[in-house]
Amino acid sequence: MRLSGKTALITGAARGIGLTFARAYAAEGAQVTIADINLDAARKAAESIGPQAHAVEMDVTRQDSIDAGFAEAIARVGHLDILINNAALFSAAPIAEIARTDYDRLFAVNVAGTLFSMQAAARHMIPRGQGCIINMASQAGRRGESLVAVYCATKAAVISLTQSAGLNLIRHGINVNAIAPGVVEGEHWDGVDALFARYEGKPLGQKKQEVGAAVPFGRMGRAEDLTGMAVFLATPEAKYIVAQCFGVDGGNWMA
Ligand SMILES: NC(=O)c1ccc[n+]([C@@H]2O[C@H](COP(=O)([O-])OP(=O)(O)OC[C@H]3O[C@@H](n4cnc5c(N)ncnc54)[C@H](O)[C@@H]3O)[C@@H](O)[C@H]2O)c1
Repeated sequence: MRLSGKTALITGAARGIGLTFARAYAAEGAQVTIADINLDAARKAAESIGPQAHAVEMDVTRQDSIDAGFAEAIARVGHLDILINNAALFSAAPIAEIARTDYDRLFAVNVAGTLFSMQAAARHMIPRGQGCIINMASQAGRRGESLVAVYCATKAAVISLTQSAGLNLIRHGINVNAIAPGVVEGEHWDGVDALFARYEGKPLGQKKQEVGAAVPFGRMGRAEDLTGMAVFLATPEAKYIVAQCFGVDGGNWMA
């Protein structure tokens, strides 16, 4: 019960890694708001966790939706201790084929969504003099990839925002850090695999198998592999950790 009495809002938590974080936080005693653009899925996710979770509709690309989502969450639980910026989109295409609409869409969710959700949380946390913000980065933010220019650039921006916000907000007692997963199984990666199948001419499932085999640990990550770091960063033991990005990737980035 390391998060007993704490409240957390997790964006994009209707499925995948965010949902697994919501479960882990609830198991550690936290009250969790599942904030997602897909309200039906968010409600089902919250129901699957029980009374410690509730859903709010939030589209992190829209300021009115961020404002309303935070206000609803805070009204419901009284205050907010922890924000996890987890909502994100992925795309892949060779440079010559990148669509401007795709660029705009990914930067709106992954970068502006992260920044303005951090801002909404910070405005609430600053007067309280405490808080914790965890941004979901990626190994993709640490280097480019031939077919993944836009997503990689958004995740590099998330790492940079984490550094600036970390430095700016620690004076208010708010710790901002990031987690950089490697390759994590789930619906998200099924979509990634389909894009690589198209651009690299591979049968469906082959890319996934290849990237899993290449991880030094010996397999793709599972969302559960990330929960230790997500919980730890929100505990008092992590209070002196500021503006960092932690790889949790089975050694993938190092290799
Ligand atoms: N899965 C991986 O291999 C992997 C690797 C590295 C980093 N990550 C990062 O981890 C995080 C979670 O990844 P995942 O695999 O669970 O993703 P996912 O695609 O399974 O889930 C993303 C969630 O975000 C929600 N969402 C999308 N647009 C939104 C918006 N505008 N506003 C609010 N919610 C929105 C979706 O409805 C969905 O529930 C992301 O930030 C991702 O970039 C994932």
